[in-house]
Amino acid sequence: MGLHVLGTGSALPARSVTNDDLSEFLDTSDEWISTRTGISSRRICTDETLDDLAVQASERALEAAGVTPDQLDLIVCSTTSGDHLIPAEACAIAERLGASCPAFDVSAACAGFIFALDVADGWFARGRAERALVVSAEKMSRLVDWSDRATCVLFGDGAAAAVLGAGGENPLATHLATEPAVDILHVPGIGGSSPYDGSERPASVLTMEGRRVFKFGVNAICSSVEALCEQAGVSLGEIDHFVFHQANERILSSAVARLGIDDAKVARALAETGNISSACVPLALDRLVRSGQLEPGQLVALVGFGAGLDTGACLLRWE
Ligand code: UT7
Repeated sequence: MGLHVLGTGSALPARSVTNDDLSEFLDTSDEWISTRTGISSRRICTDETLDDLAVQASERALEAAGVTPDQLDLIVCSTTSGDHLIPAEACAIAERLGASCPAFDVSAACAGFIFALDVADGWFARGRAERALVVSAEKMSRLVDWSDRATCVLFGDGAAAAVLGAGGENPLATHLATEPAVDILHVPGIGGSSPYDGSERPASVLTMEGRRVFKFGVNAICSSVEALCEQAGVSLGEIDHFVFHQANERILSSAVARLGIDDAKVARALAETGNISSACVPLALDRLVRSGQLEPGQLVALVGFGAGLDTGACLLRWE
């Protein structure tokens, strides 16, 4: 028992923040950000909540799939930056959609969409569900330190979703991995107010060893694509589209060069979204689908990587 993707959808906040906007309050420039990352602007929440974006993306995916919320048996949301620590972001999505199925979150940072997809695949395999909604929703603007030019310029907000149905041959291959290393990319939890807590309470903002994550990212893409090919018994050249995590254009081009794949097959969305953590992969996938570039019968490889250090990858034959 496998899965098939019935429909996809995505949503971004209205406000676009350009590199020049950032250089008004940070010691940075459009030149530095564009050449080092490939990012020109990112969408940042102003009046929208993350719930709003997650629900919009879900509604678009449901519409594309021709599925109504009451037909869902499962909602899994991947997020590390939800509007709620309790309950799960997925519960807020369920409430707003009017769904009454089990709903919970998974946390696997930028690899979260593929981990969530794998959870849904497990529910299908155990006969627990016929239709599932997988949503990735991230409000990175609440996690970054807006005085740290080395990190805040990289990230943005957004959500993307996929409605899945049970059955079929997908995924042709799945590769999930963790190289545990917490401090390399870290957001400490909230401090709380316990009078018994004598531990240090660092601010809940994102810190990152950029160069180490860069190298990890290139390796993660290359090794997981190779693992997918081996598992599915397909050659690299047979894959029609690659949807990699959108962290840095230089990570994408390094991976393209190392794998020796056709650059035109690699989806790009980051120039106007920045890094939206786990929402990057489903958002780029949604754009590929809606632009008509992803055709039935084609093979598409998805790879997410990030904090953890987690990597999630899968190979789908588009139906
Ligand atoms: O979702 C996964 C998460 N993240 C990633 O995948 C990110 C992976 N890493 C990267 O994309 C890159 O490492 C960065 C974009 C974060 C940094 O690029 P880099 O080429 O590795 O630059 P660097 O950190 O080595 O910094 C080079 C210089 C430094 O100045 P000095 O020490 O040479 O004087 C930084 O202070 O660039 C400076 N710098 C900036 N200058 C202008 C760092 N950020 C900025 C900035 N504007 N925004």
